[in-house]
Amino acid sequence: MENKYVGIEKISLYIPKYYVDIEKLAKKRNVDSEKWTKGIGQEKMSIIPKNQDIVSMSANAAINILNDEDKKNIGQVIFATESGFDYSKSASTYLFDLLNINRFARSYEIKQACYGATAAIQIACDYVRVRPNEKVLILSSDISKYGPKTRGEVTQGAGAIAILISSNPKILKITEKSVSLTRNEYDFWRPSYSEYPFVDGKFSTQLYIDMFKESVNEFRNRYKNTLENIETMLFHLPFSKMGKKGLISLEEDLPLLSQKWLSKYDQSTKLCRQIGNLYTGSLYLSFLSQLIYGNLKENSEIGFFSYGSGAVCELFTGILLKDFTSNIDIKFIEKMLENRDEIDVSEYDLNYFEKIYTEESFIYVEEKLMEKGFNLKGIENGKRE
Ligand code: HMG
Repeated sequence: MENKYVGIEKISLYIPKYYVDIEKLAKKRNVDSEKWTKGIGQEKMSIIPKNQDIVSMSANAAINILNDEDKKNIGQVIFATESGFDYSKSASTYLFDLLNINRFARSYEIKQACYGATAAIQIACDYVRVRPNEKVLILSSDISKYGPKTRGEVTQGAGAIAILISSNPKILKITEKSVSLTRNEYDFWRPSYSEYPFVDGKFSTQLYIDMFKESVNEFRNRYKNTLENIETMLFHLPFSKMGKKGLISLEEDLPLLSQKWLSKYDQSTKLCRQIGNLYTGSLYLSFLSQLIYGNLKENSEIGFFSYGSGAVCELFTGILLKDFTSNIDIKFIEKMLENRDEIDVSEYDLNYFEKIYTEESFIYVEEKLMEKGFNLKGIENGKRE
């Protein structure tokens, strides 16, 4: 028999230990700091050190939520990223050794810009609906780098989110209501020869808004009179102002909903302001932010707008479950944010854009720089330790 009650059982976040202050960066770049702190809406940007990569960040996120029973019952490990370092071997394979996951689980990497983790979640829900005794582990891990002195520089970030999908969700039940939409566009893309993405910034923000509006309209047509039930709308946030632009675009057609969702919007952006764009993890960072800083109650229906350049988006909903906050390690997230060290902008300029991630080898990171948890120790012959 099909089991229709599926969703997020556990979720956790990992962010690197370092950040750059956006006001100080603006000063160095001769930009009015209010343009970046108010106009774009960012305060700090997460900086990944040499001893972390997408795999170590994802393992550091997942280790906090998995127990032995989970590891035994995981039927798939899906790694969503657009910061992959290998065209063949998937990043998910590393997790089996690092986290001691049962070896009979499926394992693969998935890519569609920032939309990847949402694709993974929907695949996982369908999988668990027909195999209710199994669970799916989803890792979303990315390094958002646009390069120095680019318009996108202020929207960089890094971090990972791990999500466990099961038929025994403790945080969010994911409904079967969803609208996905694809348009073949070049708003943000990264050809295989380029370390940094190519971006048509203004076009990308407009396309995001257009696709959001089109998805909302399709949702209204498909699921009559249910859009109004959505308590708050969460967004993929490349920077904290982006979702607000989407909500403002609804003001004319759906003024009441636009107002209702705008009134809860700021709480969902608090983590993004401190961290930056997590690419695949960004929408789920907004989710964590809303759960931690918002005032949502059990049974609230939440809308999720996932967007990945290129471009694919999906609007889906979930319903909050009883005691959802007690199933998230909020103290751990707050501690990670508090314990970060600031990197001076001149040091960032000197070292952050050094090309190490795609290199065949680099000198092993000194032991004293190693953090508690999982670290990247070095690369030799393209093999990561
Ligand atoms: P820009 O062109 O330098 O900024 O970069 P702007 O001129 O558009 O100004 C930004 C805002 O600041 C404007 O407000 C200004 O009015 C305001 P808005 O009209 O937007 O409300 N402003 C000020 N406010 C206060 N005081 C001042 C001041 N001056 C101006 N003194 C841009 C903006 C987003 C284009 C750039 O950062 C960029 O290219 N970012 C990267 C691309 C991006 O994030 N696109 C978003 C949609 S695409 C997406 O989400 C997918 C993505 O995550 C990738 C993936 O899917 O893999 C990126």
